[in-house]
Formats: sequence, structure tokens, C-alpha cells
Amino acid sequence: MNSNDVTDTAPSGNGPIGIVGGTGPAGSSFALRLAANGHDVILGSRDETKSAAVVDRLSDRLPRHRTTRLRPGTNAEAAECDIVLMAIDAAHTVTGARDLEPVLRGKTVVSMAAEVQPDSRGMRPKLPPRGSIAAELAHALPASRVVVAFQHAPARAVAAIDEPFPGDVLVCGDDAEAVGEVIERLGNAVGASCYDAGGLQNAVAIEAMTAVILSLNIRQRSRHSLEIVET
Ligand SMILES: NC(=O)c1ccc[n+]([C@@H]2O[C@H](COP(=O)([O-])OP(=O)(O)OC[C@H]3O[C@@H](n4cnc5c(N)ncnc54)[C@H](OP(=O)(O)O)[C@@H]3O)[C@@H](O)[C@H]2O)c1
Repeated sequence: MNSNDVTDTAPSGNGPIGIVGGTGPAGSSFALRLAANGHDVILGSRDETKSAAVVDRLSDRLPRHRTTRLRPGTNAEAAECDIVLMAIDAAHTVTGARDLEPVLRGKTVVSMAAEVQPDSRGMRPKLPPRGSIAAELAHALPASRVVVAFQHAPARAVAAIDEPFPGDVLVCGDDAEAVGEVIERLGNAVGASCYDAGGLQNAVAIEAMTAVILSLNIRQRSRHSLEIVET
């Protein structure tokens, strides 16, 4: 499925999109792109002052009529949204989500986390005991619908809102309806071409692929991302 057609006036439709840990490069780049495309966002943080400062900084990059789309809040307030993008740093994604478990029940929780570590030839994946951070997240949030997406979208390129979304997006999850919601609503809202890549077990490959892409960019001094082509 290709969701590259973004209308400039597209409304959120179903309430704001929440970003937990939205103050980092990844979360703030998605907040910026979503607001620029006319979608309401609650940018969450453990520290509301920090969230407000990031919203102020991002608002300077938005057309005036879009600035009200972006609101600062706590992580709990962001987690109240129907779709919640988990943008906490990868090593703390699961513990951070666990703190919000009661609020996240029934929600579609998007895991963009992938942990990597340097080795002599680039990066290698750092995978947790259940195989992927997303699987750990699903275990920690049994009443939430965990969906994997956006691991391969570099924050700097996502924040370049005058450019197309960087690369194609592999989406996976065990709840087909939640996967569809992420593709249709979040993917479309950021202007990404999203592809349903199966169940949550495939998260291990998607997260590990991050190390592959980072390694090839290190070795080739390039900024490649992932593209799905028809053969
Ligand atoms: N950076 C990228 O280009 C990129 C691309 C694709 C996917 N990702 C994924 O996106 C996620 C965020 O990446 P990032 O580079 O933006 O990460 P980051 O800057 O390291 O961290 C993001 C936010 O996580 C929160 N945080 C840090 N430690 C925490 C803890 N112990 N408990 C709760 N919250 C904590 C902080 O927010 P507060 O202090 O405001 O609470 C911080 O601003 C990661 O999972 C990463 O794998 C990143």
C-alpha cells in the first residue's frame, strides 16, 4: 500500500496523535511533519517544561496557521491519544512504556525503536531476549495493540518537511486492524509509503535491518534508506 498522497489540509479526523518521548530528534521530527501536514499532535515528555521548549522551537519552523496543531504535554497526556508513537530512546522504551501501561490499554502503540551498537565494521543489532524491542513492548503492554514502523526513517530527513518522507516504511504487528490504522492514518499523515510486512515476529528483522542500513551508510559515507521495489 502506498500512502504518499498527503493533502495539505488533511485534518487529523480522530483526535490528536500522541508522541511519548517526543523531545528527542525522532519524536520531534515526526511532531513537526505531522503538524506541518495539518494533524494535531501532543508532544509528550517526562518534563513538561522540556516539552514546551521543544514545541516552541518546532513552532518557529511551522506556518503560523499550523502552530496550534502542536501541543506540549506529559507522556501520560500523549499516551491518552488513540495512536501513540513511542519515541523514547531505544534502551528505555520498554521501561518507559511500562510506567504508562494503564493509560495505554486499548491504544495503538507504535514502536519505532531499534537498538544498535558499534562494531569494527559499522553497527550491529542489539536484540533483547524476546527477539525485538517490539516483542518486549507487547509483553509489557498486553492490553495494547503494538505495531512496528519507522525504524529506518532518519530523524534529520523526517524533519526536512519540504522534502518527501525519507524511504519506504515496513509495518508489522499481530493486530491487522491496528496495522491498517497505522498505515492509513499515521503513514498517510506523514506522507510515507507504508507496507504491511506481516506479524510482530517480523519486528526482529525490521529492527535488525537498522544496523544493516546504518553500517552501509557508514561504509559508503552515504545517506541511503530503504526502498521497496516491484520486480
Ligand atoms: N534518531 C533517529 O534518527 C531515529 C530514527 C528512527 C527511529 N528512531 C528510534 O526512535 C526512538 C527515539 O530516538 P531519539 O534519537 O529521538 O532518542 P533520544 O533522543 O535518545 O531519546 C528520546 C527521548 O526519550 C526520553 N527518555 C530518555 N531516557 C528515558 C527514560 N529512561 N525513560 C523515559 N524516557 C526517556 C527523553 O525525553 P524526555 O527527557 O523529554 O522525557 C528523550 O528526549 C528510539 O527508539 C530510536 O531507536 C530514531
